Amino acid sequence: MPLAVLSGDSSDVFSIRRGNIQFPDGKTLPIKQIGKGMFATAYATVGTKNKRVFVAVRDSVYPVENDYSKEIMEEAQGKGLTHLPKVKKLGDTNNAALYEMPFYKVPVRAQDGAAWQQYKVLKKCQDQAQRLTPYAEKTYDGVGYELSQKILSCVQLHVAAKKVPRTLYNSLKAVVDAGANYGAEYSLEFFPKNLGTDPKGRLILLDPIFSIRVVRQRQVAAARKMDSYWERMKRKQRNGW
Ligand SMILES: Nc1ncnc2c1ncn2[C@@H]1O[C@H](COP(=O)(O)OP(=O)(O)O)[C@@H](O)[C@H]1O
Ligand SMILES: [Mg+2]
Repeated sequence: MPLAVLSGDSSDVFSIRRGNIQFPDGKTLPIKQIGKGMFATAYATVGTKNKRVFVAVRDSVYPVENDYSKEIMEEAQGKGLTHLPKVKKLGDTNNAALYEMPFYKVPVRAQDGAAWQQYKVLKKCQDQAQRLTPYAEKTYDGVGYELSQKILSCVQLHVAAKKVPRTLYNSLKAVVDAGANYGAEYSLEFFPKNLGTDPKGRLILLDPIFSIRVVRQRQVAAARKMDSYWERMKRKQRNGW
């Protein structure tokens, strides 16, 4: 086996370290971290005229499955879907999938006018969908798709009442449809820090979908890690540290 393969030194691999992003051709750009979520870390270039944003979605550690929500967002894009972020996959780092997208103002805030009012409608529809879902059903994976459908129906009513634009409904529907190809465990969810605005002040659905199953797997893995930590501590204490 060539040494390059053993060391993971493949030619289409990006790297992010010590405040720089390195491209496969060896070029580097200075960057700084601008945000971090459960799955992704976002960086923006510094000191260049055109600010570029790179988002690294960390690979999961077995037995937790990967989160494909950024891939879903990339697929969902389409003509007239003005509320979707422009996401493009660039390649991989040694431990993450790397995407590039424009810089959006995050989170959506009360000062954001129409965008904030639209967020409030989305939140209301989400709360309503949750209330309409019996507790027992909330633990099964397929509830993701069902919750999304209930949210879409509610948003559609608000389009009819002229409370939100039809393009917002169309954008959400494209995300749900793209997500359905990945599994029924993907569900819409709205938090201000997962929503932004573009330079025209339009609401941008930055990170509106997640896998109920992957989040549960992460919680179980984290609880196990805590348990084994306390086991180790107790053992140490018994052995007089
Ligand atoms: N295009 C962007 N412009 C500005 N900030 C961003 C952008 N993409 C991500 N961020 C920031 O990074 C955080 C994490 O990204 P997000 O897509 O929400 O990942 P996760 O799936 O881990 O929640 C966001 O909450 C936001 O603060
Ligand atoms: Mg997020």
